[in-house]
Amino acid sequence: MVNLRNDYSEGVHPLILEALIKSTYEQNFGYGLDSHCQNATELFKQLTENDAIDVHFFSGGTAVNKTVISYALRPWEAVICADTGHINVHETGAIEALGHKVLTAPNEDGKLTPAGIEKVLREHSTEHMVLPAMVYISNSTELGSIYTKKELIALHELCHKYNLYLYLDGARLSNAMASPFNDITFKDLATYTDIFYFGGTKNGAMGAEACIIVNPHLKRDFRFAMKQNGLLAAKGFILGIQFETLCTDNLYLELASHANQMAARLSEFIGNYDYQFLTATVTNQLFPILPNEMANKLAKEVDFEVWGTYDENHTVIRLVTSWATTNEQVEAFKEVFIKIEGEK
Ligand SMILES: Cc1ncc(COP(=O)(O)O)c(C=O)c1O
Repeated sequence: MVNLRNDYSEGVHPLILEALIKSTYEQNFGYGLDSHCQNATELFKQLTENDAIDVHFFSGGTAVNKTVISYALRPWEAVICADTGHINVHETGAIEALGHKVLTAPNEDGKLTPAGIEKVLREHSTEHMVLPAMVYISNSTELGSIYTKKELIALHELCHKYNLYLYLDGARLSNAMASPFNDITFKDLATYTDIFYFGGTKNGAMGAEACIIVNPHLKRDFRFAMKQNGLLAAKGFILGIQFETLCTDNLYLELASHANQMAARLSEFIGNYDYQFLTATVTNQLFPILPNEMANKLAKEVDFEVWGTYDENHTVIRLVTSWATTNEQVEAFKEVFIKIEGEK
C-alpha cells in the first residue's frame, strides 16, 4: 500500500528527535518558562523581524484555534471563515461548543475573499444577531492553495476598516512559505495579521504549534487562557526544543519544500493523463478529480482520503505528501496508476 493519506503519518524528523534525546537529562523550568522556549521565541522574533511578538507553544492545532478564538471574542461575538475553513468543517464544532458562532462565506479556490466577508457583515448588523469580530483564514488553505501578499493585505485592510481581528491558522504554514508561488514573508505575517500560528506537527515535529501574537490587545493574560483550557504544557520545553530545531538552518523550509516537490511530481504525472484538479497544486496537498471507477481501483493500492463527490461520475480524492515521502513512494504510486490506466 502506498500511503499518501496525510502529512502526520510518520514520526519525528531525526534532527528533532536527536535534539530531544540530547536534552533528556536536562532539568528545565516547567510550563514554557525554560531556555528552549526562550530560544525558539528569539528565532521567531528574527524570522518576523519583530521584537514585540509574544510566542506560546501548543501541541495541536484545534487547541490553538479554540484558545485564540475564545480568548479574543466576547460571548456575543463570532468568527468569519471560508465555508471550507478548518474550524467550520473539521473541528467537530469546537468553536461553536465554546459559544461562538462560525459564520461562513463561499470560498474561492479555498480562500476567503473581502467580498465574502462584507456580505456576512451586511447580514449581521444589529444586536439581535451575533457580532462578527474576527476573520479566520488558513495558509495553506484546506484545499492546499495559498494567499498572495496582495490578498493578505486586502484582508488586513478590510479587517482594520471593520474592527475585526485577522487570525491565520498556519497548521501548514511551512508548506505555504516553501511554495514556489509564495510571496508572503514572516515579516508580512507579523504586519498584516493580529495573530497567527506556525505549525510543526505536519512538518516533522512530534506535535508542536507555535502561536505568535502580534496585536498587543491579544497578549494580556494569554497564559491564563491556556492554563484554564488545560493547554499550558508542564514539559513545555519539549515544544520549544522542536521549534529551536525546525527554525535552525531553515529546516522547516527544507522539509516543507521536499513535501511540496513530491506533490508537484505527483500532480504533473496525474495531469499528464488530462485529469483535472479541484485546485492547482502549489503546496503538499493535491485534489485530482478522477472517474469513480479509477478512484475505487486506486483505493485498493493507495491509502488516501476521499474528499468528496465531484459529479455523478467523478470523485475528488486528496493526496498528501510529507517531509518523509520518498522517491520510491512516488514511483510506486505512478506504477499503480499506470497499471490501472492500462486496464481501461
Ligand atoms: C488548517 C488546520 N488547522 C487545524 C488543524 C487541527 O490540528 P489538530 O488535529 O492538531 O488539532 C488542522 C489539522 O488537520 C489543519 O489542517
